[in-house]
Amino acid sequence: AGYMAAGRGNWYADDISKVIVSEEQIREKTAELAKQVAADYAGVDGLLLVGVLKGAVMFMADFARSLDHPVELEFMAISSYGTRATSSGVVRILKDLDRDISGKHVLVIEDIVDSGLTLSWLLKYLTSRGPASLEVVALLRKPDAVKVDIPVKYLGFDIPNEFVVGYGLDYAERYRELPYVGLLRPEVYER
Ligand code: XMP
Ligand code: MG
Repeated sequence: AGYMAAGRGNWYADDISKVIVSEEQIREKTAELAKQVAADYAGVDGLLLVGVLKGAVMFMADFARSLDHPVELEFMAISSYGTRATSSGVVRILKDLDRDISGKHVLVIEDIVDSGLTLSWLLKYLTSRGPASLEVVALLRKPDAVKVDIPVKYLGFDIPNEFVVGYGLDYAERYRELPYVGLLRPEVYER
């Protein structure tokens, strides 16, 4: 049997083999990162969080609410060409920024840095829009999967190089609503 999230339906019990980052760990880390950011950006006007849909939605919502600093929220949706295994770093914009970010202090909010190719592309793209500053807040990183080194100034957790779901992360659009990050049983892909 898999992990049961306290007080919730046990829909995915047979699909998740292990909790990688628990709800409590996420809560504590988010508060810690928010504290750092609030300190680093004290007195800074025009702090803009740019979330990457859909994976970063949960983290962005919790991070913004932990942050003791006024922010504006923007979202982008992008999709990488190719399969997961052959992520080419060639990215297509599905939903662009709604407005100008020039002169803004931008924090990219990401769920996970895997190869780093997507984020590397995104940082170049955002840089070309002329922000006053640009940094990355990422909840998760897989150090053993890195192909491009990304300066993640605010990092939650380094995790093993395995496919995880939950807290925004999906497999075939499922599991995003799990309150924790868990390891998906390989049998699930093979179904
Ligand atoms: P790269 O390799 O460009 O990929 O850093 C980043 C994007 O790939 C997705 N991704 C995952 N999604 N479980 C998921 O549900 C994972 O373990 C995983 N690893 C990478 C994710 O969308 C991320 O933004
Ligand atoms: Mg996905």
